[in-house]
Amino acid sequence: MKRYENQQWKESMRITLDFNNMMADMLGEDQGISKESIASLDEQLKTAAQAMKTKREEGKMDWRDLPWNQNEIVEDILNTASKIKQKFDAFVVLGIGGSALGPIAVQQALNHMHYNELSKAQRGGCPRFYVADNVDPERMKALFEIIDVEKTMFNVVTKSGSTSETMSQLMIIWDMLKDKLGEGYRDHIIATTDRENGNLIKIAKEHNLKTFYIPRGVGGRFSELTPVGLLPASVCGIDIEEMLAGAAYMDELCSTQDVHKNPAYMAATLQFLAMKSGKNISVMMPYADSLKYMADWYAQLWAESLGKRYNLKGEEVFAGQTPVKALGVTDQHSQVQLYTEGPFDKVITFLGVGKYRTTMEIPRGFEGIPAVSFLGGHTLNELIHAEQAATEYALLKAKRLNRTLTLPEVNAFTVGQLLYFMEVETAFAGELLEINTFDQPGVEEGKNAAYALLGRPGYEEKKAELDARPQKKEEYIL
Ligand code: PA5
Repeated sequence: MKRYENQQWKESMRITLDFNNMMADMLGEDQGISKESIASLDEQLKTAAQAMKTKREEGKMDWRDLPWNQNEIVEDILNTASKIKQKFDAFVVLGIGGSALGPIAVQQALNHMHYNELSKAQRGGCPRFYVADNVDPERMKALFEIIDVEKTMFNVVTKSGSTSETMSQLMIIWDMLKDKLGEGYRDHIIATTDRENGNLIKIAKEHNLKTFYIPRGVGGRFSELTPVGLLPASVCGIDIEEMLAGAAYMDELCSTQDVHKNPAYMAATLQFLAMKSGKNISVMMPYADSLKYMADWYAQLWAESLGKRYNLKGEEVFAGQTPVKALGVTDQHSQVQLYTEGPFDKVITFLGVGKYRTTMEIPRGFEGIPAVSFLGGHTLNELIHAEQAATEYALLKAKRLNRTLTLPEVNAFTVGQLLYFMEVETAFAGELLEINTFDQPGVEEGKNAAYALLGRPGYEEKKAELDARPQKKEEYIL
């Protein structure tokens, strides 16, 4: 029996949301959120909860079913991953945005923090792992200097199948692989994309590439629990079945219509009220290096989903809350000054860890200096917990909205829960804001402008539009 099949273990691994420090009871009426203000939203909350339910039932939220309906896909991924482990020394994801941030976050959370520097045996026979998301030529060159392309599997990931960054990277490695391996190139590329649409699927079919699919109704930033995230994770030895079980467990916790019992709905409701009172910055501050890149993944999810000019009625609303990434305790020595004494415009979310995966003792020493020796006999675990509690207290004292999501420990089950929690929170916040959570016209505008600038056929009109933009003046360039 797998541990996630044991109800008691699952409950012991349940992520908790502590929103005490969002509430007026704790922060005072001027900054905190009152129970009355939540109650005054009652009708809106019921409508939003009903909309979430209906959309799911109508198949308009396919990402919600991912924890439940991927048995065959998981089997294919496990088989593919096991073959990759036998044959390859490196696994490189070519993708950007939703095709990259999830794999990076999960790898950092669940594998050794210096994974690539371990020997292959220490990595359990798994290949080194890289994500080439940006198109900085220096970075790309640096990657080619440390991998042997003949021993590398490239996983090209793009939902649209046309993103310039990803497709240009594919073209580079395609050329390189053909040059070195001739017809063998196709055994070094796996395509993850839409089953029917886009150019990557055309290329994959024409060249007979191994392919995984991103379900039609799942957008990039909601795709970590599809092969986009599951294949890289599995290749790197992560238990993807446990991760999906964690997501399924969170789905159960978030399926009630009652906002007061649904952690993700309550989290979104409080953020919605905070936004209404001018808290237009959302800081994600994990107190664990392993969760550092969860803040990056969350930043895209929250920013792209909620940052919208128009609501569903077509009215201009300029909705959204700017995500900021921080790391506890590192950013206590950088950003927390601003959080405690700067503008009252933020909500800080701590990601805490109940039990770290190791204990590091601080030896006794420097007995003649009490201001240092008091640390001896404690552990770094106690220190990081104390630092988190201290920052929470400092924010409370300064009347700053903050909340804490605690993972009892960081493992595949809790990471699956966390991903799913944040997705549901985002979708529910979108319902309350009455915007389209799942589109990204602002991103598309940038993509289209880049196509036009580089001469993609069909973008002549966009190019003309760009050419007609106000020309820069010398006097404003120093
Ligand atoms: O969430 C989204 O849809 C976007 O941010 C995409 O993930 C990103 O633009 C990459 O797109 P694609 O996967 O189509 O290459």
